[in-house]
Amino acid sequence: MSNSIESHLVEKRVFKPTREFAKAARIGSLADYRRLYEASIKQPEKFWAAQAGELRWQQKWTKVLEWKPPFAKWFLGGKLNAAENCLDRHLVGPRRNKAAIIWEGEPGEKRTLTYHQLHREVCKFANVLKRNGVKKGDRVLIYMPLIPEAAIAMLACARIGAVHSVVFGGFSSESIKDRLNDSGAQVVVTADGGYRRGQTVTLKQNVDHALEGNTAVRRVIVFRRANLDIHIEEGRDVWWHREMDYVNATCPPAGFDSEHPLFILYTSGSTGKPKGILHTTGGYLTSAHTTTKFIFDLREDDVYWCTADVGWITGHSYLVYGPLANGATCVMYEGAPNWPEPDRFWEIIANYGVTILYTAPTAIRAFIKWGDEHPAKHDLTSLRLLGTVGEPINPEAWMWFRDKIGGGRCPIVDTWWQTETGAIMIAPLPGATPTKPGTATLPFFGIDAAIVDDQGREVGPNEGGKLVVRKPWPSMLRTIFGDKARYKKTYWSEVKGCYFTGDGARRDKDGYFWIVGRIDDVLNVAGHRLGTAEVESALVSHPSVAEAAVVGRPDEIKGQGVVAFVTLREGEIPTNDLKEKLRKHVGHAIGPIAKPDEIRFADALPKTRSGKIMRRLLKELAGGGSVTGDTTTLEDLGVLAKLVKRDE
Ligand code: PRX
Repeated sequence: MSNSIESHLVEKRVFKPTREFAKAARIGSLADYRRLYEASIKQPEKFWAAQAGELRWQQKWTKVLEWKPPFAKWFLGGKLNAAENCLDRHLVGPRRNKAAIIWEGEPGEKRTLTYHQLHREVCKFANVLKRNGVKKGDRVLIYMPLIPEAAIAMLACARIGAVHSVVFGGFSSESIKDRLNDSGAQVVVTADGGYRRGQTVTLKQNVDHALEGNTAVRRVIVFRRANLDIHIEEGRDVWWHREMDYVNATCPPAGFDSEHPLFILYTSGSTGKPKGILHTTGGYLTSAHTTTKFIFDLREDDVYWCTADVGWITGHSYLVYGPLANGATCVMYEGAPNWPEPDRFWEIIANYGVTILYTAPTAIRAFIKWGDEHPAKHDLTSLRLLGTVGEPINPEAWMWFRDKIGGGRCPIVDTWWQTETGAIMIAPLPGATPTKPGTATLPFFGIDAAIVDDQGREVGPNEGGKLVVRKPWPSMLRTIFGDKARYKKTYWSEVKGCYFTGDGARRDKDGYFWIVGRIDDVLNVAGHRLGTAEVESALVSHPSVAEAAVVGRPDEIKGQGVVAFVTLREGEIPTNDLKEKLRKHVGHAIGPIAKPDEIRFADALPKTRSGKIMRRLLKELAGGGSVTGDTTTLEDLGVLAKLVKRDE
């Protein structure tokens, strides 16, 4: 088919779960997975109802699913409280005194909160919110450093039925303002400041700027974290610690409808107005709980570390709701991975005996760039499972992660999902699924993922197409807050009857899903449609390369030419000779069609705050124009300025 995405990169390495891991795991063989998967797809409602039954419901549902496309409701008639499920139900029995959060600040402070203590803090802060007029359904904007209070604020909202909207602490005043306007939040929870790479981040000051002019905000609750000298607006701003003195720790968890909104989270990286992704309570928590349990194969004695910030969906589902609903011990670290030295993560793992590490490809590529000596200095033998999320992981980065961090013994779960999906959708089960570097492998139970062509027909093995989901699942976004029309258009109009993910992918002969990149980024070279991920992976597999981003630029003859932006590993010298070698290397790995027409060396690539490469900006640059698109989600404007300069 001429309009399908071609795939040329062949990956032959396969890693089976060890017998030992498989024996101890919940799902211990591929045959078991396949059997359970088939059953879950035949009767998804049965599967999800059984999983939902593991949560505590104050009132049981009367109907599992109401599906009026594209609007789904799960566990209708059921009532529950998300905070009660993450806290109260662990208070009976030995989990009561188990560490819920082990936190480390960037400057080095250490704090541990047991389930009992976390419960107490959440109840108190819930009473603070009530005291400040927050009611069920009200939106609360949370703009915090990665400290336990961020999770406490989220759970306190959940406890009283308020809807939290967390804004990543690295975002600007402008982003806060947009999100305040869109969500209509009247209360903001923030801190005076936080720490990042040895500097303080002036969070409260950013909130002050965002509140200049007209907003609906009437109360700002400020946690003291960095002892910064801040402005306190009389009548509007109050201190967290003072408020906590006025309240007691009794706050019975009310039961809310399963479909009661739990949070709004704005998506990153897109152009135009941010999309407020709305998630509700019962379905979201069911998916978060179930996926955490099976995919990380969580054990009572695990020390689980998800390195994401609470400002992203990964922080919501796999730092807060998923692991806490499972009664896990979670490590939380406030700062940068290379502060004060590039071995901070490895030091933390050794210190706390972390057993599960869940992180992002962008971080892994940075670790590779910084050098193998940093992890080598520390004892990482406590680790038993590794995970990645956020972008396709280049096979060479995957191999490095496996060897240098996992000591060749830990399974890697490459997890594909989105802010919109709420929970992991495609991932290996670590005791069952043989893994291959670069693929998220197979869909999770109850997830009917498929790859279709422009007409919506499922494509054959190794043919590229659009990744869609054909059946609703519990943690599916319910809508874009305040914009049903945009919800329908963005996700449900591209492929009839299916949820469209925006990603391009193929399935190999074993049915494994390989994400080839965002559909919008697909290259079209002389009539061949190529995903960006394969060309980038080919570049990264060269020993001199740390990171690569590939974009198309208009080409009179071929339609599009391939331009690659490449950063080199520490110590490598950028030369024309190396450029030629890299072009040949890609030609060899994929085929002449994918050979970059031009290679540009860069010190760094433009990324969003969550670490995704912004190919859109590079495309504008490669096309010879200046960058005119939206740059508000860019992490470091300096990176772009440097690239433009090199261009002149
Ligand atoms: O393109 C896919 C990529 O990240 C997108 C979702 O981004 P976001 O909503 O910010 O959520 C990130 C954390 C869940 C997807 O559409 N993506 C995410 N995980 C993977 C991935 N691409 C390939 N492999 C993954 N494991």
